[in-house]
Amino acid sequence: MRKIAIIGAGRVGESTAQFIAEAELCEQVALVDIREGAAAGAALDIQESAALFGFDTRVVGDTDMGIIEGAELVVMTAGVPRKPGMSRSDVLDTNLAVVRSVVEQMSRCCADAMLVMVTNPVDVLTYQAWKMSGLPRRKVFGLSGVLDAARMATFVALETGFSTKDITAMVLGGHGDAMVPLPRYTTIRGIPVDHFLDRETIDRINQRTRQGGAEILALKKTSSAYGAPAAAIAEMVSAVVHNRRQILPCVSLLDGEYGLRDIAMGVPVILDSSGVSRVIELELTAEEAAAFSASAAGVRADLDRIAE
Ligand code: 2OP
Repeated sequence: MRKIAIIGAGRVGESTAQFIAEAELCEQVALVDIREGAAAGAALDIQESAALFGFDTRVVGDTDMGIIEGAELVVMTAGVPRKPGMSRSDVLDTNLAVVRSVVEQMSRCCADAMLVMVTNPVDVLTYQAWKMSGLPRRKVFGLSGVLDAARMATFVALETGFSTKDITAMVLGGHGDAMVPLPRYTTIRGIPVDHFLDRETIDRINQRTRQGGAEILALKKTSSAYGAPAAAIAEMVSAVVHNRRQILPCVSLLDGEYGLRDIAMGVPVILDSSGVSRVIELELTAEEAAAFSASAAGVRADLDRIAE
């Protein structure tokens, strides 16, 4: 890609810019932040690492959204992060206004750009960004399960001692406390995880996965996670840039899949150069389906509240 724009030069945005630049996923990364000097300073710092990491990506930063002109993909990380003890939904009203402003400016600078949503609550804001942008649903998707599944795979590796390289996890649902880790679709070199771990351990891993973001926030106190989120965003962007047709759990608009419409939720999708080329519907047990419905109800409640 020629240009990828990242809105928000906070820790997630800055780390995402670093990972995208190092992977040379585009010729230019354009980083924007309303705070004077924040994006410019972050961009220059990343650019100065080029000689050491050996990348030729150009990284620019500014307060002016004009620098995203012509971007083919935009990563939206701007907004207020939650504080310890808050849910991701607690920052909805503030961040909805930020998303609305960015989508309006995108319509002037890069109306056809693909939009990768990160700002929380990401399921609700992915739906809202899609509605406001008028983009086809394949071009608007969000960060959820790639990060949550990475956390789940890490916890499986820590419990089993096996290499994370051999572990693939699956997490569906809203990117919140009601997310749906799926041990039945979590394997170690293709072997279902329950071959190695008992029910109690798997339940503990599921719960730690649901609380993954909150656990880090409680430890760091003044910052949410940003290393793993940024790496997850870079994985999604790489799947698009390289047309990988990778199956990744992402927040996607649903139009009948899983029996849901007019909502965005974390589901397995095929990511390629067109964006979300297909939503994959998994067979769910009654217990898994009930958990997915409960997660959808939480997202729906937020959508209904802002529609009032
Ligand atoms: C997380 O789970 C920030 O939502 C992100 O860490």
